[in-house]
Amino acid sequence: MRQPQRVESATALPDKVTIWEVGPRDGLQNEKAIVQTEVKAEFIRRLLDAGLPIVEATSFVHPKWVPQLADAKELMEGLANPELPVLVPNERGLDRALELGLKHIAIFGSATETFATKNLNRSLDEQFAMFEPTVRRAREAGMDVRAYVSMCFGDPWEGDVPVEQVVGVGKRLFDLGASQLSLGDTIGVGTAGHVKRLIGAFDEAGLGVDHLAVHFHDTYGQALANAYAALEAGVTTFDASAGGLGGCPYAESATGNLATEDLVWMLHGLGIETGVDLEALVATSTWMAGHLGRPSPSRVVTALS
Ligand code: HMG
Ligand code: MG
Repeated sequence: MRQPQRVESATALPDKVTIWEVGPRDGLQNEKAIVQTEVKAEFIRRLLDAGLPIVEATSFVHPKWVPQLADAKELMEGLANPELPVLVPNERGLDRALELGLKHIAIFGSATETFATKNLNRSLDEQFAMFEPTVRRAREAGMDVRAYVSMCFGDPWEGDVPVEQVVGVGKRLFDLGASQLSLGDTIGVGTAGHVKRLIGAFDEAGLGVDHLAVHFHDTYGQALANAYAALEAGVTTFDASAGGLGGCPYAESATGNLATEDLVWMLHGLGIETGVDLEALVATSTWMAGHLGRPSPSRVVTALS
């Protein structure tokens, strides 16, 4: 018989958190196989049905850079749900999102010079010149704009990334008009003390935790510990990917994101509300793993399926 989960709350943690599901975007952008548009649409519908409040659907990037998401237009037309956020790097991407009447975009900046060049074909400074008109026009059109910062905890080409450098990039993205900043550990090297230090540095710079989210990849098996550290530091928005899918095609050492199931198991065990039906989510990831032809790396998916 399966052991029912015991719930024990810990002091000074929030009652409720928001999970920002990135599996269809961050997960599928890194799959070798190109997943059929209809399967992606079904994946997204099932994630929404499982109670995930926000499901990032795809990216309006150059199809040559990320061929896995080249069907972004067809996918979003089929879903007909303008609330689903999409990644947009520039004005061309924004135009494509505007044509479909979408309401939420996310720009994605880099904390380091090298990754800005590799991921965006821009220098660190040039990325802001690309984002400025994109965010301005999106805001004028009434859109909500999230901003990611990649390589917040280390960079495979530059090594250590100073906390002040990350805060500086984050501040510039807030100044452009982003409503929320998602701090990315793109290659999964961060550890819990570093997470607290970075969030504390944002706080000291007057950029409060209410507008921060965290985005952990699990390369070194630290994603869940880092999520707990962020929870203790007051973060209430967590990015995660169903079944632990994911990576970044322009950062080879990036593996999957923190699995949504692992995060949900921890949060529910702490008595924290997520709105997610874990059983339905596990069934969705198991179904998706069938389409991808390999099992989910999530420990909770393995335990419950
Ligand atoms: P570029 O080649 O410098 O673009 O790429 P450009 O502005 O010079 O334009 C060249 C051509 O591309 C033009 O066409 C444009 O129209 C076209 P032409 O006139 O030659 O026919 N073009 C586009 N077409 C479609 N959609 C667009 C678009 N933009 C230009 N949006 C660019 C610059 C930013 C477009 C490119 O570098 C790119 O697409 N990069 C995306 C890389 C990416 O998606 N990476 C993964 C997401 S980030 C991530 O995973 C990290 C995250 O999860 C957080 C974390 O883990 O840290 C978010
Ligand atoms: Mg990512």
